[in-house]
Amino acid sequence: MRFSSVTTSLFAAVVLFLPDFSVSDNLRRQLSQSTCSGECPDPSMCCSKYGYCGNGAAYCGEIPVNSPAPPVESPVQVPIVVNPSPPTPIEEQYEDSRLIAYVGNWQSCPSDEQMAQYTHIVIAFAVSYTWSPGKNICNKQCEIATPTVCGNAARPDLIQKWKNAGKKIILSFGGAGMGGSWSGSNNDCWDYCFGREAQVVNRLTTIVNEMELDGVDIDYEYFYEDNQNGSGFTKGAEAQKFLKEITTGLRESMAVGSELTHAPMEPDMVPGKAYFNVLKEVASSLDFLMPQYYNGFVRANTNFAGALSHFTTITNQMFGGDASKTVFGFCISDCGSFNLNGSQSASVMTRLAKTYPCNGGAFFWVANDDNNGAWSIPVSSQLALDSDECLAISPVSNPANAPTPAPQKQQEDCKDEKTFRYKGKKKCKWVGKKIGQRCSKKWKKKRLSHHCPKTCGVCE
Ligand SMILES: *[C@@H]1O[C@H](CO)[C@@H](O)[C@H](O)[C@H]1NC(C)=O
Ligand SMILES: *[C@@H]1O[C@H](CO)[C@@H](O)[C@H](O)[C@H]1NC(C)=O
Repeated sequence: MRFSSVTTSLFAAVVLFLPDFSVSDNLRRQLSQSTCSGECPDPSMCCSKYGYCGNGAAYCGEIPVNSPAPPVESPVQVPIVVNPSPPTPIEEQYEDSRLIAYVGNWQSCPSDEQMAQYTHIVIAFAVSYTWSPGKNICNKQCEIATPTVCGNAARPDLIQKWKNAGKKIILSFGGAGMGGSWSGSNNDCWDYCFGREAQVVNRLTTIVNEMELDGVDIDYEYFYEDNQNGSGFTKGAEAQKFLKEITTGLRESMAVGSELTHAPMEPDMVPGKAYFNVLKEVASSLDFLMPQYYNGFVRANTNFAGALSHFTTITNQMFGGDASKTVFGFCISDCGSFNLNGSQSASVMTRLAKTYPCNGGAFFWVANDDNNGAWSIPVSSQLALDSDECLAISPVSNPANAPTPAPQKQQEDCKDEKTFRYKGKKKCKWVGKKIGQRCSKKWKKKRLSHHCPKTCGVCE
């Protein structure tokens, strides 16, 4: 889907930010709004920063500072700003404590016990080669086969089950078998994909749609500069164009709300390196970035300062200081001296939270090594603590700064909130720590104000 016209963009923006109402109702409501400065004549409404009264996220200040441009309130009176790429839906922007597991699709499927810890699954990998000992057989037209999910099987049943449990399922394109810039890898299947950006974008989008997945991860561990590391590689410009165009292309072609990320090796994510520069340029198209702190030089456990400095550079240069966009990468047992067990990894996240309580969470290679959740259980406990810490320092949680939540127009039942658990874990008290933001968030197709009506001020 391309956002080529003003109407589709506006439509998308309305659906994204005010999901509880029908679009036509909303447009009608917006067209008849009064202007304001600071306060609205009707005290149940909020005055948006563009000077229009209304209810909901766009008016009541629930959009975080770092979010893309909010929808334009009145198409009649102000020029319409068309976002170059559709913004991430508002619910995604408050996603915290990501715990992202790569699943090797030739390995066994994660158990329910493991899945209970994960927020995301990344299926590894979609590729354009046939495996072969020594050197993979590249498809010279860069044709990407429909990947299996796990256990070498399609498993639409598991996809459905995971989605029902609220998990995001992302397809990773690439991996070491497509090509590696380290010594010893002679795979060069990426070469055949350069110049076929549109084909790759269309094919990956088709696979995501057909398998009903939530997005794409690019796992590129290959050369991207001429003669990189003395390799004699000559396709630097083609590689950079490829990385850039598949990123912006996927952002445009995938459905609004899809997730898009890269998982680069740590040495490639250094200012001055072409891959870093490419991602910096297209960072606004990414939902988050997953640097691999296990394929390079930095050992996060013994050289935490080095890892923190690397993490900080990415966060500042690509995401304007928003650490929730940078997801810390671990490896359980495939990466030699870079391997970290659950308690070591949790300790790294503890240290990261001292500087960045609102970090992007953790990802790891690979679910097959997370035996009965032995790695993920300590890590997810630590992530939950980070998340609480993040809330505690958030300016919105300070009652002095907190915006008064706008009374909801629709009447909700006055429920007993004691038994409610958001995603099976969080209580209404958690919702209350960020009232404005949380109350409009959805759970089981209803706003949290429906589940926590007292906390959200719907019921007195
Ligand atoms: C660069 O090449 C050398 C020699 O092939 C190899 O040992 C080293 O690991 C390579 N460096 C990187 C960052 O891939
Ligand atoms: C994790 O690794 C450390 C260092 O090798 C070790 O002391 C600790 O016992 C390990 N923890 C678990 C749970 O295996």
